[in-house]
Amino acid sequence: MSHHPQQILIVGATSAIATACARRWAAQGALFFLVARDETKLNAVADDLRARGATVHCHLLDLNDYAQHTTMLDACRAQLPRLDVALIAHGTLPDQSACEQDAQTAMDGFLSNGLSTIALLTPLANQMEAQRHGTLAVIASVAADRGRPSNYLYGSAKAAVTTFCEGLRARLHSANVRVLTIKPGFVATPMTQGLDLPSLLLASPERVATDITRAIARGRDSLYTPWFWQWIMLIIRLIPGAIFKRLSL
Ligand SMILES: NC(=O)c1ccc[n+]([C@@H]2O[C@H](COP(=O)([O-])OP(=O)(O)OC[C@H]3O[C@@H](n4cnc5c(N)ncnc54)[C@H](OP(=O)(O)O)[C@@H]3O)[C@@H](O)[C@H]2O)c1
Repeated sequence: MSHHPQQILIVGATSAIATACARRWAAQGALFFLVARDETKLNAVADDLRARGATVHCHLLDLNDYAQHTTMLDACRAQLPRLDVALIAHGTLPDQSACEQDAQTAMDGFLSNGLSTIALLTPLANQMEAQRHGTLAVIASVAADRGRPSNYLYGSAKAAVTTFCEGLRARLHSANVRVLTIKPGFVATPMTQGLDLPSLLLASPERVATDITRAIARGRDSLYTPWFWQWIMLIIRLIPGAIFKRLSL
């Protein structure tokens, strides 16, 4: 481990997956700038991380309010002058059938899961490019790999983020900045609470966080977590479209 504390920005810091990642970094004495929209939840996460050895700064922001992103990043830079890692974790699971009925609901879901992340990555990428150092770790989803009837609004927003990150990775390669696209499968978090998911495939946030922190440390480009999703999604991607459209997934 480095002698300097890792400087880590976490966006959507109250997410269960993000919190599990943060706990691992807190044990190494990280310096955090946490961004979330719910003050009570954010304070609870910050207190927990401080108790585990971290130094923590908090910033309240609804990430959909992208006009405020640069103000937030300025505040972050004041506390974390040499950002090592930015983990972008916020997201929602929109009600697919509600999105089919109302364009505004669909656009709101796309904003939360796609556009807000793309907006944030725009100034954040420039900041990291200028400092010629750091990792942008972005949580997409296995849902990005194929449009399914049950969640294609969410999946297409995550696909937009995935393609954006692929281009950004190539752009920032020569600037020594890494871009990691994270594709979790089913994870037991508040987002999936109440859904009827196959328990054999349901991972804990801690399991996924172990994979994420390791992939960041190793400078990887992309991550399926847990590992077996890489093979599940390979098979799903190989299903011909003419057959896929007849499956009610
Ligand atoms: N759980 C899964 O099975 C799964 C699978 C694949 C990908 N993912 C992705 O993993 C990431 C983390 O999700 P999670 O599973 O840890 O669920 P989670 O615990 O429900 O976390 C989602 C977080 O995003 C925050 N958020 C949503 N919209 C926001 C906004 N506009 N501004 C600020 N914060 C916002 C929520 O804040 P509030 O609590 O204030 O609403 C919440 O803290 C998400 O990007 C999700 O899409 C999850």
